Amino acid sequence: MSDTFEELRQGFERDCAAITDAESWKAVRDKYLAREGGAITAAMKRLRTLPKEERPLFGQKMNELRTLVEGRLEGLLQTAKAAEASGRGMPLDVTRPGFPLASGSAHPIKRLQAEIEQIFVGMGFQIRNLPEIETDYYNFEALNMPRNHPARDAQDTFYFDDTVLLRTHCSSVQPHSLEGATPPVRAISTGKVYRRDPFDATHSPMFYQVDVVAVEKGLTMGDLKGTLGVFLQRVFGREVKMRLRPGFFPFVEPGAEVDIGCIFCGGKGCPTCKGSGWIEILGAGMIHPKVLRMSGVDDGVYSGFAWGMGIDRVAILKYGVDDIRLFFENDLRFLQQF
Ligand code: DAH
Repeated sequence: MSDTFEELRQGFERDCAAITDAESWKAVRDKYLAREGGAITAAMKRLRTLPKEERPLFGQKMNELRTLVEGRLEGLLQTAKAAEASGRGMPLDVTRPGFPLASGSAHPIKRLQAEIEQIFVGMGFQIRNLPEIETDYYNFEALNMPRNHPARDAQDTFYFDDTVLLRTHCSSVQPHSLEGATPPVRAISTGKVYRRDPFDATHSPMFYQVDVVAVEKGLTMGDLKGTLGVFLQRVFGREVKMRLRPGFFPFVEPGAEVDIGCIFCGGKGCPTCKGSGWIEILGAGMIHPKVLRMSGVDDGVYSGFAWGMGIDRVAILKYGVDDIRLFFENDLRFLQQF
């Protein structure tokens, strides 16, 4: 409803700006106030078609608009007549209201991505901006997934040719940050990743990830758990329970799948956590010695941890959205809620 008023008001202001004499003034008056076909008169007639409960507000707003239009027109008639008589044209009306500009805002996923980066900056991690078009080596080989490794199947890949592909995860931050570096290394990479997945409520061929790598002397699973716990608490903005289950990823050993206590039911069991009280959220582990060695890091001296997580997935949980497609359709009614 308020759109109608705003559109009418703005249209009216625009038309007023074109008034130069009594004749153009009359055209504007008729356009809005003529008994037959005037825009405001016509809108008033719509009052009867509205549901009863909307009528009082609509009527009130319409009357306000009518008063505004009549007032402006009255003033403009004097000015237009004077302008015509003097032959100098219309003076500049510095009191004319401006037109509001619709302001945009960052997309919720992009905002969350920036928030995540800030959490890591606060913990002393470096942010790596890495290529989405990646080589087979950095996406797979250097992460202990040689050609024909079965783990590659889990990540249906878009290939350009034999050696170039769209990255399937952000884990390439491990070799990219370790090669040629002297630990300590603490880095993250966030951004788009691509997989040949169908587009449905829980899958998309393009989504967002954040991957984390930390390597130095004496890092243990305890450091992984501690860092992860702080991170999860900051990203969800509340105390979250966390548990690690054994999980397999070729580039970590031991590897873990990490669950958080269901943030919807507090662990009692609900449809979102399928009654278990836990929600799987990310993969993690201690970096495999082979991965360290392949990137030139002495695995006898250094150890490290890594984890990787879907940013869209966190957004779904954090904002209680039940369909990932909403993040890609860019319907303003959805986006304006953030
Ligand atoms: N790259 C994995 C994926 O996309 C997620 C992952 C698992 C990343 C374990 C890690 C890790 O860094 O340690 O499914």
